[in-house]
Amino acid sequence: MKFFYNLKNIFDFFLRRKLKFSLQNYEEIPEDLSNLFGAELKQRENDLKKKYTFEYMSDMTQLNYKENLYMLDILDKYFDIVPYENIKVLDIGSKNWNYVRGQYTFFQKYCKALELKGVEIDAYRLYWNLFSRYEVAKFYKRDLKNTRYIPKDFMRIDEKFDYITWFLPFVREYPHIRWGLPLKYFKPEEMLWHAYFSLKTGGKMFIVNQSEIEYNIQKRLLDACAIPYKEKGEIISDFFPFKYKRFALVVTKKGIDDTKLLK
Ligand SMILES: C[S@@+](CC[C@H](N)C(=O)[O-])C[C@H]1O[C@@H](n2cnc3c(N)ncnc32)[C@H](O)[C@@H]1O
Repeated sequence: MKFFYNLKNIFDFFLRRKLKFSLQNYEEIPEDLSNLFGAELKQRENDLKKKYTFEYMSDMTQLNYKENLYMLDILDKYFDIVPYENIKVLDIGSKNWNYVRGQYTFFQKYCKALELKGVEIDAYRLYWNLFSRYEVAKFYKRDLKNTRYIPKDFMRIDEKFDYITWFLPFVREYPHIRWGLPLKYFKPEEMLWHAYFSLKTGGKMFIVNQSEIEYNIQKRLLDACAIPYKEKGEIISDFFPFKYKRFALVVTKKGIDDTKLLK
């Protein structure tokens, strides 16, 4: 079965990358974003609005607003970062980057100049409406300055970042194959090393896993690579309740680069 899926994935993946077919100019029609939540969540939404600039968190569908509020809420609660003059951030495995505005809103607060990149190996995968992830991501990142969606294998990115976010890395073969990727790209340990070395000294990486099983595998991978981390445990945001529990941990690259701290 594995052999069959892999063969199919190799063929489909090759075609997608060669053809890069997609309908162009994907768009969503903005919806009314007021009164989406009950009293408690409304309070949290208002607190986030007070803390962050919500310039880019409007003109969206209700679904996309919730996805981005989820992202902002999670980063705000569980990812402590240091303000810098300039911040370079990478999101690994961005899919269609439907959560880019939440990330942008979060990191923008902690710097004067933000450079945000998202890398996705399977950017030309098509949705039922014949728009690719690439085309959809282009829409989601519209009007965000210095933001790039890179259709590429992360292993081929050779740059250093202050912060890396990594939501749902594949740590097990089965989800990787069912997602449609060829097995040769399943390299959880190598990718982890590469991510660690892509951090600047003092930089931090926020890793989120789906289910306690994957979280435990993630920790074993980090231990095997002798990469130190801090467990955050289960992460919760009621803005977007996922079916499966999510868990997070934070990796800090050893040493402190205090030359660029915001005065
Ligand atoms: C489980 S999905 C998570 C997507 C997204 N981060 C989210 O939270 O919705 C993992 C993503 O990582 C991408 N991916 C896997 N290996 C990759 C690689 N070597 N370079 C870039 N992206 C990769 C997959 O194509 C997939 O879109």
